[in-house]
Amino acid sequence: MSYFRPAIAVMKAYVPGEQPKPGTQIIKLNTKENPYPPSPKAMEVLHHLDSEWLRRYPDPLAREFCTAVSEALAVPSDWVIVGNGSDDILNVLVRACAEGRDRTVVYLIPTYVLYRTLSAIQPGEVVEIPYPIDFKLPINDLIAANGAITLVASPNSPSGHSVPLDDLCQLASQVSGVLAIDEAYVDFAEYSALPLVHEFENVIVLRTLSKGYSLAGLRIGFGIANPKLLEGLFKVKDSYNIDAIATLVGAAAMRDQAYKNACADKVKVSRAKLSIDLKKLGFTIRDSQGNFVLATPSISHAEHLYIALKERGILVRYFDQPRLNDKLRITVGNDQQNQTLIEALVSLIK
Ligand SMILES: Cc1ncc(COP(=O)(O)O)c(C=O)c1O
Repeated sequence: MSYFRPAIAVMKAYVPGEQPKPGTQIIKLNTKENPYPPSPKAMEVLHHLDSEWLRRYPDPLAREFCTAVSEALAVPSDWVIVGNGSDDILNVLVRACAEGRDRTVVYLIPTYVLYRTLSAIQPGEVVEIPYPIDFKLPINDLIAANGAITLVASPNSPSGHSVPLDDLCQLASQVSGVLAIDEAYVDFAEYSALPLVHEFENVIVLRTLSKGYSLAGLRIGFGIANPKLLEGLFKVKDSYNIDAIATLVGAAAMRDQAYKNACADKVKVSRAKLSIDLKKLGFTIRDSQGNFVLATPSISHAEHLYIALKERGILVRYFDQPRLNDKLRITVGNDQQNQTLIEALVSLIK
């Protein structure tokens, strides 16, 4: 007899991007971390943390953080649910809403692979709808799939495109279940779908501090939605899913919007330069609204380049799956890192 439920026994584990030990001499452009350090104001809070915050259990609702979100994004603080990264909120959503064939999880592919993993664990049946080549949202297919949850990442990873707001509006008004708009990369994008939460009770917008705020190691993300939608999610989340350190440091980072915006602006400038430099080397590049680019080499095979770059101490992401196995997803680093990447590619392609 297996130790595990059938769904777990057969499922494929999610494989996160490689994470070498801090201090390893490597240029890490594989998991979309921000190349700049977190806000000095957030680090100040971390350095002066009173031990009393660690002796006691944390606030189950992370209200200090919710207040900071409320101030920064002009949403009521009781419209915020906080998680151990936005992965945690995705997990809560799937556990709260999905079940078997009658309550499916609907999403587009290619997208964030964790959507599939979380649904397999629940277990919730998934409906995977392929994005067309031009990445236009197949609205009618999504509506017809009638999911208990429809997940749309905007900007999407790994394509980098943002979904037009009119499409998201139409989708929100026509799906009967929850529409979760995953805005992990919104800090590098031109627009957000956040206003939709006021218009549609079934919409939740997910955000993270892992990318724009340079706090991937802290593990804090959040969802914004009408309290009627959050009610069910609060029942499902672990009581103490955000520790005291994440609550306080995350709140300070959230309050330092100026610093976050300045770092995001630098990343956007570097993204444009990196895209031009890659195009000069014969790569086809999709316009990206995230802190990464999806690059298709014209001369060498993507997997060969991935391996050769790794041997030279540069990590990028290669996906051995249909539609992506001829591409590399490259996180935008700082200008020096990007330049080292370009120089390595020049020598490899020659
Ligand atoms: C689309 C998308 N959503 C969510 C996440 C997870 O973010 P977090 O670090 O907040 O769990 C990622 C991480 O790469 C992502 O690509």
